Amino acid sequence: MTVGAVAAGWVHRHLLDVEGLTREELERILHLAVDMREARAARAHGSLLENEIVGLAFYEASTRTRVSFELAAKALGATVVDLGIAGSSVSKGESLVDTLRTLERTGVTMVVLRHASSGAAHLAARTTGLCIINAGDGTHAHPTQALADALTLREALGSLSGRTVAIVGDVAHSRVARSNIHALGTLGAHIRVAGPRAWVAGFEAWPGVEVARTIEDALRKANAVMTLRVQLERGARPADHLAWRLDEERMQLAAPGAPILHPGPTNEGVEITADLANGARSLIGRQVENGVPVRMAVLALLAGVA
Ligand code: NCD
Repeated sequence: MTVGAVAAGWVHRHLLDVEGLTREELERILHLAVDMREARAARAHGSLLENEIVGLAFYEASTRTRVSFELAAKALGATVVDLGIAGSSVSKGESLVDTLRTLERTGVTMVVLRHASSGAAHLAARTTGLCIINAGDGTHAHPTQALADALTLREALGSLSGRTVAIVGDVAHSRVARSNIHALGTLGAHIRVAGPRAWVAGFEAWPGVEVARTIEDALRKANAVMTLRVQLERGARPADHLAWRLDEERMQLAAPGAPILHPGPTNEGVEITADLANGARSLIGRQVENGVPVRMAVLALLAGVA
């Protein structure tokens, strides 16, 4: 098996964003993720990726995404190499493209890339022969997080069709929010966003997105609520966090039992109270758990073996 030999009916060589995926393609990834979860539990996923060398190139900090990609690739029998950016030639000034081309020459076939620049994954896909999986580029996209969130929400709500999902907080700086708006919207959900003006600016123009004036307006009868970390590293100015913090009283406005999501890492007490983050309605742990099988599904599809 060689990378680039796409799985039957799977036309994408890379996973750069969610925008390019149809509803059928999203469904296919989510179904495969469920199979992968079962196979992983039964230790029955074989060695689908035994001919692949997966490079992890994280130019920005990561816990969940990096660890779950590593576990996903290893679970499928791939060889995994973590570039360890801080100790690499990046610190000597080597460019992104040169670094990736170097990895390619060593035999790496697939690269999981996280970078502070929006568009970095597209650049990598255009300028190398590697299969590129975007693990978060600037404020632009974080497709596998959205896929894990879609799976988590679907399992909690049954279906996303006609459901309202409120995304509150620092939406403008969030690649997770953008990818979720695409993924959940394509799967039939109605999206409401809310936050201080600078954090939701421009979203009125997004098809299918409603910008609520206040957090209360966003939460009213929402079937699920996602809250986000303030992206200080992307220039977000801290807002009056009490005006936007998800707490028990505000959650009363949402539909009864509405689940709560957060991509992590959380700053408890800032965007969400510790009680809610750790309470019965929180799906934050589930989102992390679903990250591994979703990434197994993505790797297998892109390698042409699923
Ligand atoms: C997110 C990210 O890096 O975009 N984290 C993650 O991958 N789960 C969100 C964040 O950093 O706040």
